[in-house]
Amino acid sequence: MPYENILVEERERVGLIRLNRPQALNALSDELVDELILVLERFDADERIQCMVLIGNEKAFAAGADIPMMAKFSYMDVYKGNFLTRNWDKLRLIRKPIIAAVAGYALGGGCELAMACDVVIAADDAKFGQPEIKLGIIPGAGGTQRLPRAVSKSKAMDLCLTGRMMDAEEAERAGLVSRVVPANQLLEEAMATAQKIASFSQPVLMMIKESINTAYETTLSEGIHFERRLFHTTFATEDQKEGMRAFLDKRPPSFIDR
Ligand code: CAA
Repeated sequence: MPYENILVEERERVGLIRLNRPQALNALSDELVDELILVLERFDADERIQCMVLIGNEKAFAAGADIPMMAKFSYMDVYKGNFLTRNWDKLRLIRKPIIAAVAGYALGGGCELAMACDVVIAADDAKFGQPEIKLGIIPGAGGTQRLPRAVSKSKAMDLCLTGRMMDAEEAERAGLVSRVVPANQLLEEAMATAQKIASFSQPVLMMIKESINTAYETTLSEGIHFERRLFHTTFATEDQKEGMRAFLDKRPPSFIDR
């Protein structure tokens, strides 16, 4: 299926999605987000795909929600149209891991999109920020909620209240990104990470994503209980038998995603 705002390819068991509105620094128009959700849902349902990589271009991962589009909106447009909720919230339902590979600007909705992914790998020239305050709005796609969980209350306040950008080094120090790589190696590193994840058992990697995400939604004791039950569940899989048998046989495992 042809898309107008994204480029999609499959590399072995990894779905690669490139945001592709370079003329607007990959600003997240409704059309772009609709296409993104559609393809993520398609990959999520595809047995052959284990993991997705989301990348922009050298200048921008995404410079935020589309400002010309929003400039025309009235309160009734955003309320009745359920702006952001209608499509963005579906991201949370994707069960396979998504790696955000961020070069250049990840601002506003772009930073929020990266934070909604599961692993964030940053190029050394990446810049993160929540500049919505400069437009007379607040972050609307999870910025005020995910940022303090990812960094700290003080840094989240600093970023959202001043609208300043932080560079990749600061973002790594703050815990927003899992690692920083040279800009010219970003895609290679993200794909290598995705291929590594893709080499493991599909139900097990989905359970890990679900269990880690549960940490954000529940108390520690409930979370530990949830993890324990999923851990028990892995013993019902053929891949647990294979993984442990392979270790004992001193050979690489051959998982069958069952
Ligand atoms: N929406 C639509 N178009 C955008 C855009 C956005 N968020 N950000 C940049 N563009 C467009 C510019 O209008 C410009 O288009 P033209 O060439 O047609 O004029 C093109 O992309 C290149 O941008 P600049 O010329 O501004 O490039 P620059 O290198 O001088 O500056 C920048 C780069 C600092 C990222 C600057 O473009 C900028 O500040 N962008 C806005 C960032 C922003 O405020 N993001 C938050 C949006 S609100 C939001 O995201 C709400 C939410 O929570 C979901």
